[in-house]
Order: sequence, then C-alpha cells, then structure tokens
Amino acid sequence: MRALRAPMPSAAQLEAEQDRLSCGGLADLGFCAKDLAQLAALTWRINALKALRKAVIPGHVYQRPEILVGVADFIGDSYKLAKLCAETKAAAIVFCGVRFMAETAKILSPEKTVLLPAAGAGCSLSESITAADVRRLKAAHPGAPVAAYINTSAEVKAEVDVIVTSANAERILRRLYAKQPKVVFVPDEMMGRNLAASLGKKLGEELVIWKGSCIVHDKFDAFSIALYRKAYPGVRILAHTECSPALVALVDFVGGTGDMMAYVEKTRAPYYMLVTECGLGELARTRFPEKNFVFMCRLCPYMKMTDLRAVLRVLEDPSPSVRVEVPAETAARAKAAVRRMFELAEDTVKL
Ligand code: 13P
Ligand code: SF4
Repeated sequence: MRALRAPMPSAAQLEAEQDRLSCGGLADLGFCAKDLAQLAALTWRINALKALRKAVIPGHVYQRPEILVGVADFIGDSYKLAKLCAETKAAAIVFCGVRFMAETAKILSPEKTVLLPAAGAGCSLSESITAADVRRLKAAHPGAPVAAYINTSAEVKAEVDVIVTSANAERILRRLYAKQPKVVFVPDEMMGRNLAASLGKKLGEELVIWKGSCIVHDKFDAFSIALYRKAYPGVRILAHTECSPALVALVDFVGGTGDMMAYVEKTRAPYYMLVTECGLGELARTRFPEKNFVFMCRLCPYMKMTDLRAVLRVLEDPSPSVRVEVPAETAARAKAAVRRMFELAEDTVKL
C-alpha cells in the first residue's frame, strides 16, 4: 500500500457531515457546533480514504465517541469484533481498539493488512503474562486444558487450548469441565475469581488462575455501590466481569460490554449505572437517549490513545511501523485456539 493523501470535502459535504455526526449522537453527548465542524473535516476525509483503500474500521465500545459515530463500520465487544474481522471482505482493517484486538484480526485473516493507529495501545492484562509463563503453568498442571482471555498476546494465544471473552468465558469453561476436573484460566485474576464463584469451583485446585489485572476495572470500589443505590433509588447497577468479586456480589448484573448493552436495551429502570470504562456509558447514551445513566466509570489510557488524527495518518501512510504482523507459525497456532472459541461459544462441536 503506497502513501495517499485523503481528498478534501466541499463546504456542502462538510455541512452534511457535521449534521450526520450531530444526529448520530454527538450533539446528545454535548459536542458543540465548533467541535462538530472540526471533527467533520477529519471524519469526512477518513471515510473517503477508507473507501479508496477498501478498508473497514472496527471500533471497540470503549473508543472515543467521535470514532464510533464518525468512522467505525462495526462496533462491538471483543467477541463481535473478532467475528466480524474474520468475516469481512475488506482488503485492510484499521483497528480502533487495542493491540491484542488488532493481533486477533491479523491471526484470523493473515492475508489482510491490519493497521493499528496508536502503536502504544496495549492492555495491562495482555502485558501481565508471557508465553513462557503459560508453558510453566502447563508443565505444573499436566492434562488440564488452558483457557486464555482474549486480552493476551499472539504468543500467549499460541500456547493455549482455547480463547475466551467476557461474552462466553463461563459457557466455555462449563463445557471444559464437562470432560475435565481441572482448568487453567489466564491472565485476569478477578475474572478468574468470579468464574470460580459462578461455576462453584475451588480456586487453586479445580480452577488455576494467574495474577493479571485490568488497571481500569480493578480500581472500582465496592463500598460506593451502596451510596449510589441510596442516591438513585431504583438504579440498576451493571458491572464488567473484570471487576472484583466483592463488587460483583453487590450489583444487579455482571457480564461483558455486549451483555451490558443488551441488558440496558431489554429492561426498564429509572437509572442505569455501568461500572466499566467510560466509553460504554457514552455509547449507551447515544443508543438509548431516552434512558438515564449515572456514571461510575474510569478511562482506559490504552483505549483512549486512538484519535481521529491517528486514524487518518495510518490510512494516508500505512507504513510497516503501523502494520500489525504476527509470525506465521505463531499465528497458525493462535488461530486454532481462537477458532476453538468460536466452535465452543456457538456450540458447533461436541467435546
Ligand atoms: P469486552 O469484550 O467485554 O468488550 O471487554 C474487553 C475489555 O478490554 C474489557 O476491559
Ligand atoms: Fe485492557 Fe483494562 Fe483497558 Fe480493557 S480496560 S483494554 S482490560 S487495560
């Protein structure tokens, strides 16, 4: 892919783009006309260049609202994005999310060009464990299947039996336990503890976990839940599965980001509180403007590294430094573990 300058919009195109962003939910989030005009100049150019490049832009729900409303072709949780990236016919994927998500897209579609606009967009969970750590766990627990959260590097994925996401971890572990008395789950300690509680498994014996943590979700304070319930009578409190078991025990619903959105859509309550990264609350406000949201949220510094300028930059100059590459042998082994997740999550195989 050679470098290419994005076309410039006419005044009429710019005005139409500004209206599109405003109606898409950015006005509801408080973006003023001046902000919208600046954003429209970028989103119009990105969308024009995206079409020329035959590229798609997946956006994780924690991304900035101007990315999700302005340029994303599909929006979702880690599971949905992995599936849609595997299915897309586009020649290139510009991943608005973090590195492990872009790597998963590359693992599933090695023939596609995968671009990551923010090179430093990592994840504290992904960085908490290496392939050598997994090999040591396998040696210490021979015969036990190893399930890894999708928030892991390609090298770690290549060492494990199956990948899971927040949308399917409990279901997949339940299926593993139908055949095995012991399972190893890495790297999120909180999620591992929550899984042990919901599956009724003894930690360290039946469920072996790792000590990784999400720097966003491990900071939420269980003590505040009672205060919010008092301040907002009838509030439904939803927490991500990466939160601590102490907090999870006090909320009305626990799940991944996709499950949380589905819960909000299907229920009626005077207020909702989404205990997770702030991007989900902003997306929920654009999707359900008639509902009330109260915020106990934190920003993920990795997710927020991607902005529209970075997206435009990688589309204009998709140089090797912004391309995501995974060595073929690692990718093939990691792909088997990701494919295993699809099969187990969607019940297309018998164990
Ligand atoms: P979801 O798959 O639930 O969107 O989670 C991804 C993530 O990074 C949560 O912190
Ligand atoms: Fe990783 Fe936590 Fe950020 Fe999700 S919110 S990308 S788990 S650091």
